[in-house]
Amino acid sequence: MHVDLLAGTAYNLAAMPSPVPTILVFDSGLGGLTVFSEVLKARPDARFVYAADDAAFPYGRLSEDALVARVIEVMERLIGLCDPDLAVIACNTASTLVLPRLRERFAIPFVGTVPAIKPAAQISRTGLITVLATPGTVARDYTRGLVDAYAARCRANLVGSTRLAGFAEAELEGRPVPDEDLRAELLPCFAEDETGRTDVVALACTHYPLLLPRLQALAPWPVTWIDPAPAVARRVVQLMGGPVPGHEADEGEAIAVFTEGRGLGSALRDALREKGLPLLAVESLPLTRA
Ligand code: DGL
Repeated sequence: MHVDLLAGTAYNLAAMPSPVPTILVFDSGLGGLTVFSEVLKARPDARFVYAADDAAFPYGRLSEDALVARVIEVMERLIGLCDPDLAVIACNTASTLVLPRLRERFAIPFVGTVPAIKPAAQISRTGLITVLATPGTVARDYTRGLVDAYAARCRANLVGSTRLAGFAEAELEGRPVPDEDLRAELLPCFAEDETGRTDVVALACTHYPLLLPRLQALAPWPVTWIDPAPAVARRVVQLMGGPVPGHEADEGEAIAVFTEGRGLGSALRDALREKGLPLLAVESLPLTRA
């Protein structure tokens, strides 16, 4: 399947004037769908482009220089194609690194997704919190800075998982992973000593909430899981306002764009349709350096 977004006559956003905004939601893959769902609830009237840079997935393995270059390249293309009014970077691995560069480069507002360390520290009773993220996010100065600024009274356990984002993709593509593989990624999140045990896990990769019911079932004890998606949606509404009067109940239009589209089998297409993304396109952008 190959659909060129601009040449495809079915959906040429840049050429369609509209009273409602176009919101671009961007991730390396399917994780940003957890953010997309919340933003869609907050602005059901809007037009959406959900963009997955699956040609470069997973971002967690890219060097910082390669990731900055890649995100700028892909955003350049997407912004040129769909002329959004706002972009949501629904990816912690990218947001913790690239947001300042994006804001410098493009005139539209950007809303990022960053580890929910402040709320985790605020609600923890034991002071033992875990930030479950990609290895890239765990290594960022930005993430360390959040810990120093907001979790100084806590013991923050930063866990970088190399496999969970891929597991979440596999699950949505109709290939669920065995419990023991998930458990191996999850167990480092749970710490216990004489002072108490971990009571909050911040899901600092947008893929992970896709696995939440399974993570909850496999957790050795109950904890509070934080998914930052509702906070991201609130920020979008702060910047853009609520639904346009007269369009509140409109079913917005939404398309999912992939930079490669290799996982687009029937299970994923069904999952995307269920999440409000019936239209699909591939805008081919191979990754040239990692
Ligand atoms: N969903 C992304 C995040 O929030 C990252 C997954 C990846 O590409 O490694 O960090």
